[in-house]
Amino acid sequence: MKTKILMVCLGNICRSPLAEGILASKLDPTKFEVDSAGTAGYHVGNLPDRRSIVTGKQHGIDITYQRSRKFIKSDFQTFDYIFAMDQSNYTNILALAETETDREKVHMILNQISPNSNAEVPDPYYGGDQGFENVYQMLDEACTIFAEKIS
Ligand code: 4NP
Repeated sequence: MKTKILMVCLGNICRSPLAEGILASKLDPTKFEVDSAGTAGYHVGNLPDRRSIVTGKQHGIDITYQRSRKFIKSDFQTFDYIFAMDQSNYTNILALAETETDREKVHMILNQISPNSNAEVPDPYYGGDQGFENVYQMLDEACTIFAEKIS
């Protein structure tokens, strides 16, 4: 069975689509499955933000196949690892957890770089293009570490 990883942010149009695309590019698709979701439903069915699409493309990562969806309780059964981009996502995911097994699956993505730091991937939605590149670099570093660990 494949190991399944879910990346979660607020809208599932800026950060977690990039996180999904970056991690998927570093893992063997016959052994791993990567998906993403948002804790809010504002953008359900939408493509990733144009700025995330452009930033991914600049690094050879195509995320245009993705459509926004909301995080749902059954994601705890489906996925082995659930990564939150920030503290607010983390709290909102944990609020839906029912068991200790559910809770143990949830991690802050940047703790891959600095364990226990609980550092956040900043929400780039209201900023400029540089914010998206900054997000890309953080996620690339975190995903490289995680991919090496589980591969
Ligand atoms: P994301 O960014 O959580 O990285 O997808 C956001 C996208 C949309 C909104 C907020 C954050 N919004 O308020 O619509």
